[in-house]
Amino acid sequence: MAILDILNYPDPRLHTVAKPVKEVDANIRRLIEDMAVTMYDAPGVGLAATQVNQHIQLLIIDTSETKDQLQVFINPRIIEKSGVQEYEEGCLSVPGVYESVTRAEIVKVEALDKSGKKFTLIAEGLLSVCIQHEMDHLLGKVFVEYLSPLKRNRIKNRMLKLKRDR
Ligand code: NI
Repeated sequence: MAILDILNYPDPRLHTVAKPVKEVDANIRRLIEDMAVTMYDAPGVGLAATQVNQHIQLLIIDTSETKDQLQVFINPRIIEKSGVQEYEEGCLSVPGVYESVTRAEIVKVEALDKSGKKFTLIAEGLLSVCIQHEMDHLLGKVFVEYLSPLKRNRIKNRMLKLKRDR
């Protein structure tokens, strides 16, 4: 298991559109393990493969207090959504930035689990926010893109400065 490098906004690779996973094989399972170690180490509650520069439709989430409830979503699709909620979101690719984003309150998701088995899940609250946030990554979208251009530019400049100063 290895801790992977997380791409930081505004890295252009974060805007890559992920391809579907063809087969849930040993390589995918190894990537899931590495992503889990990376997410727990950060620490974060969700991580998309895009963020570790792997452009396939894979994301992991663990919103539990105990950090032992890893949920794996491969080729996820939102098949129903309803309601509206606002949540102060953060992202491991935009460290230190927390901003309010409006998303659906409840989502019904279809995906494959880590053994390649199809499952359906109805999520609400933080889990719903996380699923929508991580699925955006797979489309090449970072949450700051929901903010005003002014705010986004300010964040972009702050991130570029952080990078320069490192
Ligand atoms: Ni994120």
